[in-house]
Amino acid sequence: MPRRTLPLLLLLLVPPLAAAPYFGNGVHNGYADQTSVVLWTRLTKTPGGKTDGRRFLEPVEQRSELDQKANPAEIWAAQVPPGLTLEDMEGACPGMRGEVRLTYHPRTRPDARIATPWTAVDVDRNFTRQWRLSDLAPGTAYVVELEARSAPGDAVSDRLTGAFQTAPHAEEARALTFCVVSCHDYPRRDAPGGHRIYPAMAALKPDFYVHTGDIEYYDRPGPYALTEELMRFKWDRLYALPLQRDFWNQVTSYFMKDDHDVLTNDASSDKRYGTVSWERGLQLFEEQTPGTAVPYKTIRWGRDLQIWLTEGRYFRSRNTDPDGPDKSLFGAEQKAWLFRTLLASDATFKVVICANPIVGPDRANKRDNLANSNWSHEGNEIRAFLNRMENVTIITGDRHWQYVSQPPGTRLWEFSVGSGSDQHAGGWQPDDVRPEHRFLRVKGGFLSGHVARSEGKAVLRFDLRDVDGAVVHTESFSR
Ligand SMILES: [Fe+2]
Repeated sequence: MPRRTLPLLLLLLVPPLAAAPYFGNGVHNGYADQTSVVLWTRLTKTPGGKTDGRRFLEPVEQRSELDQKANPAEIWAAQVPPGLTLEDMEGACPGMRGEVRLTYHPRTRPDARIATPWTAVDVDRNFTRQWRLSDLAPGTAYVVELEARSAPGDAVSDRLTGAFQTAPHAEEARALTFCVVSCHDYPRRDAPGGHRIYPAMAALKPDFYVHTGDIEYYDRPGPYALTEELMRFKWDRLYALPLQRDFWNQVTSYFMKDDHDVLTNDASSDKRYGTVSWERGLQLFEEQTPGTAVPYKTIRWGRDLQIWLTEGRYFRSRNTDPDGPDKSLFGAEQKAWLFRTLLASDATFKVVICANPIVGPDRANKRDNLANSNWSHEGNEIRAFLNRMENVTIITGDRHWQYVSQPPGTRLWEFSVGSGSDQHAGGWQPDDVRPEHRFLRVKGGFLSGHVARSEGKAVLRFDLRDVDGAVVHTESFSR
């Protein structure tokens, strides 16, 4: 056969991709443990977000009136310029109906691939689809392959390769790196393609990553997401950001929720935002992130590390309820689970990850977390419990500044990871250093944790980092 006909023949054998749908929002994974994981994806009309779109109007003065009146037509007219649709707006990544197929296998064993059947995305859930994979091998890196098509029999329109890994079992002493972030949104990104913390974290090759919540901010302008349609627009736009998308496609992730990505500032069950109820806010979060039936979980990551992902919104009493034994932020069941599983664990280091602070200090006028005076009863109860344990550290999101807190005379340690960009930072005076502060920095960045063994000792090191990954403060624990 003449050599130059070979590429032509290959072209005929590999069918070209059809036009759409695409995986413009990538693939996310969540809740990985030793043997299971949840995968999430969404089909889109375009390969990515619209970079040359129009800007929303920002009716800053009308914001509370639009919220109170909850009139969809007024909410739209105040924010979308006349004659435009959401698909015209900057960052838009509209959904599209179609079918997806998931194939996965351990990275080193392509022969063990498992293909799931083609299945339609759910048009009532923003064109998303989730899978719960079980019977996975512990401590194993997996490859995920996704294919899209518009209907049965149609050509494949897009392909995506992703990755995750399962947690190693409790007997395996494995060196690990993990990253924890909080609080960042599309408008306050610090690069055109997303947030710089994402390539900075990827450079550390983390075994896993935790987002402590405030993944987006419904109650910030551009637009105020006072309807479900606008809420979904914000998720679609954020998930299309290339820096975020490349990271989430490849890294084992845990997505927690907080107030701004459920509804609005300091939200609990008595709140509504525009036309959206508290219940719908929770349901949209579950639609947009890999979910499980119980929204709190502990995962053993080998011999030396166990993490607790706590749920700070779902079960909480109202901020305005009288303080006392009946007021709970975690709810009685979750709190009992937290205490029971912490006591039962023989992991070398136990890391409790929370959306909101337990130790603080927080601003005196705040009323939303266990470090605030209106939550003293449960705050004291949980702090007293943790103070009796020797190898527990707390990591918190929510606060837009970085700190390490270690109240003198206690065993309590709390690390605040800070906001995901410098322009998102604030809320504390940089010179307001309290006795419990071992470190304070009112800037953005993230936290990395590193577990390793050396000379017969296990070491857990925490590095608070700036948005480009440079270490700004380190604390080490060894046992
Ligand atoms: Fe926040």
